[in-house]
Amino acid sequence: MTIIDKTADVPAPRGSTENSGPLLDVRDLHVEFKTRDGVVKAVNGVNYSVAAGETLAVLGESGSGKSVTAQAIMGILDMPPGRIPQGEILFRGEDMLTMGYEERRKIRGQKIAMIFQDALSSLNPVLTVGYQLAEMFRVHQGLSKKDAKAKAIELMDRVRIPAAKERVNDYPHQFSGGMRQRIMIAMALALEPDLIIADEPTTALDVTVQAQVMDLLAELQREYNMGLILITHDLGVVADVADKIAVMYAGRIVETAPVHELYKRPAHPYTRGLLDSIPRLDQKGQELYAIKGLPPNLLKIPSGCAFNPRCPKAQDICRTDVPLLADVTEQDGGELPGRGSACHFWKEQIHG
Ligand SMILES: Nc1ncnc2c1ncn2[C@@H]1O[C@H](COP(=O)(O)OP(=O)(O)OP(=O)(O)O)[C@@H](O)[C@H]1O
Ligand code: SF4
Ligand SMILES: [Mg+2]
Repeated sequence: MTIIDKTADVPAPRGSTENSGPLLDVRDLHVEFKTRDGVVKAVNGVNYSVAAGETLAVLGESGSGKSVTAQAIMGILDMPPGRIPQGEILFRGEDMLTMGYEERRKIRGQKIAMIFQDALSSLNPVLTVGYQLAEMFRVHQGLSKKDAKAKAIELMDRVRIPAAKERVNDYPHQFSGGMRQRIMIAMALALEPDLIIADEPTTALDVTVQAQVMDLLAELQREYNMGLILITHDLGVVADVADKIAVMYAGRIVETAPVHELYKRPAHPYTRGLLDSIPRLDQKGQELYAIKGLPPNLLKIPSGCAFNPRCPKAQDICRTDVPLLADVTEQDGGELPGRGSACHFWKEQIHG
């Protein structure tokens, strides 16, 4: 079954001039894990794309396959038990799943960088941050020790680490959580990649620090004209920074849309549920909506629409037929570029 990529139709945002096609184009990607209990179908036909200068937010509850998709793109899946039975991951039009090892290594090491949630476990605790940053320049660009250190300080300044020159010889544990996450951003930026994948980059931080780190990431992404895939389960975080959103459920994309349209008029009951679960200042004191039930067991995904056991709009067809990601249009048939919904009843959801 092929699902059409709606996100590819979203107009490219400011700054994305050099490329006619997308930077990264994930097509019909499937990932499964062989476990003692059976085959876990973690990713079941994901399609998304991101252009230079563009931010795609990937959203969905825990276990929906956001990180596994990112790991497949980065080539860091545990294989085995992981397996990619189907799909393509095109970087500038070339499939990374079939290209030679050397070619793939160059792209994944230098053109695509990743930022993880937990900086402390991603940085080496026994090496100074300056050393770890400088090492990037020494290994990849052949710089001398002195020049690499100067570049490390420059980068620490760039991500606004106060007194970078004095702190370059400090160890990761000597920095606060927010500062460590800035160092992770610096590491990701060091080789000026074309694409950054940030997997819950601010989840472990205090709310105020979260906003600062997210603003910094968005600013650098614009300045360097990079593509950014921002993985999160927090709809509140993405409104200001993303251009478009892909909502995942049980390893599939269930809705795609330019960011502000998704907030204004969701076309899938799951997205509606996620939006209704965001705390709002004008609803203080009222009980917060929560989507009932739990995400499905990926060893036994429900037949038909995977969301049907939790969906307030479910009907008989939902229990038998898998809804494909279809074009979402205006009531009069007018186009809504980049909009797609995998719900049999998207019309009622968006126009009802
Ligand atoms: N190495 C593995 N072996 C078996 N199952 C795995 C493995 N890695 C991931 N999975 C399963 O794949 C599914 C998708 O996981 P994934 O980490 O992509 O979720 P996620 O959307 O990133 O969730 P979260 O918001 O919690 O980070 C989960 O059910 C997870 O248990
Ligand atoms: S297809 Fe049916 S169960 Fe699935 S989201 Fe739409 S209405 Fe709900
Ligand atoms: Mg994850």
